[in-house]
Amino acid sequence: MGTRSTNDPIFQPVTINGLTFKNRIIRSSLGGRIDYYDGSMSDARIAWDRQFARGGVSAIISSNAGIRTDGIAVPGYAAIDHDRTIPSWRALVREIHKYDCHYIIQLHFSGRQRDLARKEYVGVPGMSATGKPDLLHGLRARQSTAAEIHDVVRDYGQAARRAREAGADGIEIVACNGYLLHQFLSSAINERTDEYGGDLRARARILLEVIAAVRAAVGRDFFVSVKLSGRDDHNAWTAPFERAVGNTIEDSMAVARWLAEAGLDAIHLSQGDSFPHPRIPAGSFPTDEARISYAVMYYEGTRVPTNIFMMNFALLRRLIEWNWGRRMPYKRGGKLLPEAIEGMSQADAAKIKEAAGLPVICVGGWQTAGPIRGALAAGHCDVISIARGLLANPDLVHRFAEGQNAPDKPCTYCNKCAVNALRHPLACWEESRFESRERMFEEAYRIFQEAAVGVHGGE
Ligand SMILES: Cc1cc2nc3c(=O)[nH]c(=O)nc-3n(C[C@H](O)[C@H](O)[C@H](O)COP(=O)(O)O)c2cc1C
Ligand code: SF4
Repeated sequence: MGTRSTNDPIFQPVTINGLTFKNRIIRSSLGGRIDYYDGSMSDARIAWDRQFARGGVSAIISSNAGIRTDGIAVPGYAAIDHDRTIPSWRALVREIHKYDCHYIIQLHFSGRQRDLARKEYVGVPGMSATGKPDLLHGLRARQSTAAEIHDVVRDYGQAARRAREAGADGIEIVACNGYLLHQFLSSAINERTDEYGGDLRARARILLEVIAAVRAAVGRDFFVSVKLSGRDDHNAWTAPFERAVGNTIEDSMAVARWLAEAGLDAIHLSQGDSFPHPRIPAGSFPTDEARISYAVMYYEGTRVPTNIFMMNFALLRRLIEWNWGRRMPYKRGGKLLPEAIEGMSQADAAKIKEAAGLPVICVGGWQTAGPIRGALAAGHCDVISIARGLLANPDLVHRFAEGQNAPDKPCTYCNKCAVNALRHPLACWEESRFESRERMFEEAYRIFQEAAVGVHGGE
């Protein structure tokens, strides 16, 4: 192994709105049920995020943090829905800063895509830009009133203020993957006939109002990014009879331009109009694991019982797996092509970057130094964000710094981490990556043990 050269694009610092990233790799959001049921933060969260800061990334984007109680995606994710959450976020940020790493809090509102409702919201449809349930699970929705939209916009501002008061280095607003702001943006989802529905500009209105509210709350000198889906590739790909296509890359380029004019600092480019989606996180859909975890959603959506019924039969499980991502360039003859997954969004990232003139953070399958360098050197994006590659190998950046091109045990894109997240702790659940099954469990539960002995004085 060699040592990194000083002109390696991965290790060139970059400054965005006064925030200097010491290298070009950040950890993307990874939501997991490692906090308390009501959204209060646990010490396990601090131990969890700390491992990535130790591993050398220049910034961490938090798991999705609900800006309001009824917007929380899954109970057990730390929320930012109240001023009483500020001290715990502050403790987390302080811990991460010890490793010369920035902390960006992801502000989130689920809308209809509330995978697991907290007890008080069981059976209550999520507010949305449509009254129709989502195609994947049948999660119930209702059209929000204009007054409710104004309240949500205000609440984004409040959550942004809390993030700044907690000492975070910035915020990211989720407007992708089928969550509330994307439900408004998407031509396939938004059915409103008022000023928040219709043409693209009207559908983007709520997002632009959120940016204005956030800027009013945090000022101009605070990093604000939006996670945006480049293209929807509507559930025509997961729901065979769905014909609506959704937003195109050209639509997203126009939205990116408006966001730049509204005072945004960066765009984090995601893909797809649901989560999960064959484009994000790209790879397999492991039904053998999914059916066990998915059972917790039985009463959440009208389609869940049918999906679970199908997953009970091996043949139908194989059919679901075949259908998942079959139209994606990373699958051939039913087999995954890992090299086609890595960086699969970079062409779209380049288009968004050119359209908006803003720095772009590109996510999607990254875990090898060569392709990462290539994308940065070509100027397709400014920053690379990694979720599963770092979940599998939290010290990836240090390995790159030592001259290693790829981790010894890379992420296999099996997506077992994603499908387990509803029920089990957030971890890499791909047994083939570990010496033994016991080692996999030890690793998955390590953060709880670190938290139990105290994360604050641990170092
Ligand atoms: C278990 C899991 C949880 C995730 N949670 C979030 C989340 O809370 N917010 C978000 O914006 N993206 C979330 N994502 C998506 C990732 O941030 C990332 O966009 C996606 O996995 C693609 O990147 P990758 O190929 O590097 O994994 C999650 C992904 C996984 C696998
Ligand atoms: S379970 Fe592990 S190997 Fe599989 S996608 Fe997640 S991080 Fe990668």
